[in-house]
Amino acid sequence: MNERLAEDASKIDRLLDKTRDRALKFLQSLNERPVSVLPPPYEIASLSDRGIGAERALEVFEQKYEDGITASSGSRYFGFVTGGSTPAAIVGDWLVGIFDQNAFGSEDTAAYIERETIHFLRQLFNLSDVHSGTFVSGATMSNFVGLAIARQWIARQLGIDVSRDGLYALPAIKILSGSPHSCIFKALSMLGMGKNNLHIVPCLSEREAIDLEKLKKCLSSHQQPCIVVANAGTVNTVDFDPLADIAQLKQEFNFWLHVDAAFGGFAACSPRYSHLVAGLDSADSIAIDAHKWLNVPYDSAMQFTKHRDLQLEVFQNHAAYLGLPTDNPDFVHLTPENSRRLRALPAWFSLMAYGAEGYREIVENNCQLAKFLGKKIELSSEFKLLAPVRLNVVCFTLSGEETSSDAIAQFLAVLRDRGKVFLTPTVYRKIPAIRAALSNWRTERKDIEIVWEALLETRNSVNN
Ligand SMILES: Cc1ncc(COP(=O)(O)O)c(C=O)c1O
Repeated sequence: MNERLAEDASKIDRLLDKTRDRALKFLQSLNERPVSVLPPPYEIASLSDRGIGAERALEVFEQKYEDGITASSGSRYFGFVTGGSTPAAIVGDWLVGIFDQNAFGSEDTAAYIERETIHFLRQLFNLSDVHSGTFVSGATMSNFVGLAIARQWIARQLGIDVSRDGLYALPAIKILSGSPHSCIFKALSMLGMGKNNLHIVPCLSEREAIDLEKLKKCLSSHQQPCIVVANAGTVNTVDFDPLADIAQLKQEFNFWLHVDAAFGGFAACSPRYSHLVAGLDSADSIAIDAHKWLNVPYDSAMQFTKHRDLQLEVFQNHAAYLGLPTDNPDFVHLTPENSRRLRALPAWFSLMAYGAEGYREIVENNCQLAKFLGKKIELSSEFKLLAPVRLNVVCFTLSGEETSSDAIAQFLAVLRDRGKVFLTPTVYRKIPAIRAALSNWRTERKDIEIVWEALLETRNSVNN
């Protein structure tokens, strides 16, 4: 055995203690760390021949990279849709690395943990047992899986098994959606279904929610079975398609209903917001992220479907040494990956630790604080609120003359360099805009005060 490796193995307790100390130092500095920084270009080192051992590697890491690790898991990172990690999720995530299980089977303990976690999540999202679920790496992958099963469903009706024969004998499959996330296009590209076959259905006036009548019209003009991607929580304004009404249309039209509920699905956690996702259970497939509002570390998401038989057709990975799927198929036959980490464990720990009530409070707190920030913006002369705050995202722009994307970019760069908050740009109804998305369990009212001060200071400094 390599000398350094043998030495590290002999002092694993010391290494874990040192790692724990570093981890703790990081967590304790989270509030003071810059929320986002553009690091100087790092020099790329050469691989050493003999290695330096883990303890020295920790030191080198600290000197070289640690200052560049931002507080993106902290309370004022409002870019994209970004969660943090709850203490229990961190416990689970550490153990995933230590246990190093390959969660591909169906009979071992890892599989039971994953199934139990999926069951907790079904309860959290008010989904019935007709939905089976698996963990994947993120909502993009979850949407990909849902659409792959949808493709199989459509092709089956046309007498084709895409999993065996490919897309060659199929006519183009139409996908209808109002305000799809960009990853839906990516998934269609990966699936060979083509980005150009995603047909955008008009939304309601001044909304990102689909116009049901327009959807009906599209469905009635289309003879073949097709796919509707409904959105439960759009990224700009967290708008929701009327899921129950769309599901009702299945009585009249032949389509697969996939719901992208990457973060909007968490509306189900609170009686105040659960009406927004009424009808979610009627979907054929659903994508929900865990590394967003469930506040578990990257990378983690769930995909749910009512059609596990078709999922099995798509993802079955037959080999003599792996065996055939049973009634309770191995996860290797249900997901794009073969070998997979035990992603369910951090979620299991966090759900066990804080329960449904814990998540209700996280969701309600984030939404209340988003509304608080939205109100400040609405009442200000410096900024303009562009949409009502429905859940956890505030969509706004700079007030005054027509705002350009360059002005937004400049404003956000100065704001980022102040280190107090991180926000991302967008374009909403052709207006260059800014999004503040709150989905971290740590965010408190005092964070909003800090953010507000930083916004005003930046506005004044950029103006002058
Ligand atoms: C609605 C929606 N769908 C899909 C995604 C993609 O998620 P991921 O980055 O986890 O793949 C996001 C990410 O923000 C999202 O908001």
